[in-house]
Amino acid sequence: MRDFVYYTPTEVVFGRKSEDSLIPLLNKYGAGKVLIHYGGGSAVRSGLIPKIKAMLDSAGLPWVELGGVVPNPHLSLVYEGIKLCRKERVDFILAVGGGSVIDSAKGIAYGIRYDGDVWDFFDGKAAPKDSAPVGVVLTIPASGSEMSDSCVLTNTEKGQKRGCNSNFCRCRFAIMNPERTLTLPDFQTACGITDIMMHSMERYFTPDAPMPITDSLCEGLMRDVRVTGEKLMADPHNYELRASIMWSGSLAHNGLTGCGVRFDFGTHRLEHELSTMYGVAHGAGLAALWCHWAKYVMAENPSRFRSFAIKVMDIPDGPEAARRGIDAMRDFYRRIGMPTSIPELIGRKATREEIETMADRCSRGGTFTVGAFKVLGRPEMIDIYTKANE
Ligand code: NZQ
Ligand code: ZN
Repeated sequence: MRDFVYYTPTEVVFGRKSEDSLIPLLNKYGAGKVLIHYGGGSAVRSGLIPKIKAMLDSAGLPWVELGGVVPNPHLSLVYEGIKLCRKERVDFILAVGGGSVIDSAKGIAYGIRYDGDVWDFFDGKAAPKDSAPVGVVLTIPASGSEMSDSCVLTNTEKGQKRGCNSNFCRCRFAIMNPERTLTLPDFQTACGITDIMMHSMERYFTPDAPMPITDSLCEGLMRDVRVTGEKLMADPHNYELRASIMWSGSLAHNGLTGCGVRFDFGTHRLEHELSTMYGVAHGAGLAALWCHWAKYVMAENPSRFRSFAIKVMDIPDGPEAARRGIDAMRDFYRRIGMPTSIPELIGRKATREEIETMADRCSRGGTFTVGAFKVLGRPEMIDIYTKANE
């Protein structure tokens, strides 16, 4: 077991009435003036944004708003948010939405406490030392950003999607009302299920020795998300299933399922290049890549894949169990409507040039590796993209 720090400071308020806690939470965490930050309109149409504005008005809490966050959020809107918050003397960012809105909010929160260019934190020129406080009203379970230490932004000018990890950006609170997820299109629900499972799979496929308690938590979560996720796709208005998936999304990425082991996150890194190149949904990109990654790296430690097959995918033990577990995952993705290859993801094959560009970006011109279960450099990245492109 490796040494580790487990830090999850986010106050979670979960359930049908959780939004009633918004004003007490904003007061508790010192909000003087709030930026209400949201996406392309789903939270306006559902009535959530008008409700939040009315709550802040009746509490006498001043606010300004900035909508328009797109999936795979852009740095340009973060710059706009930083400017607005400075001008309006905003001291608290309230993200109302999913991972894209939360990450955009985290980017703004970093930026208003930093004199330089906030992108410095994403291209490794500087490390964050502070952040304004962020709170969340979550509308889609997927990214786990509501409890994670991560912020992922896309710099469209440079063609780069990069993450920055630090405890400064951890949300002060997360309000999670599963009823808010009832309006999700099936595709987004499935993308969320895929991403949630992947956040624990990225921790499970580790080069380190198994750590029994972490393994049990991780296997239990992955198995439950698989079983519950499939039930949810068939019964999308079921509150209990929505609630279970929503809570799994936070637990899968708050560090709990990876204590004491190194993470892989290679599939995530490869996927970020698909999102940047084609603008695809993160969860769908992961589904298009994972089985190809898994077959490529399995020889590093087949017994890990065997455990995954038996304990997560319910495959009977036997000589072919490891490979059958990967196939079972592929079939699961298909059943919930996810793509399992690049052509299924983007509607055509990627060109050789696109594959090389993605590998160049991911490996930062061949100077950077990803993954830990098997370390991947530029040639291995090209191999995996090529397999996924068949
Ligand atoms: O923009 P609106 O109109 O709100 O529509 C959104 C968006 O189109 C819609 N949506 C959200 N809640 C809804 C809803 N539609 C109907 N009803 C609702 N209740 O769903 C679409 C996707 O939203 P988005 O926020 O993009 O999804 P997700 O939560 O999957 O976030 C994806 C982003 O998070 C990053 C991804 O890379 C991607 O940029 N990630 C962030 C992580 C982190 N910070 O820890 C970790 C992840 O691995 C991931 O990389
Ligand atoms: Zn993810």
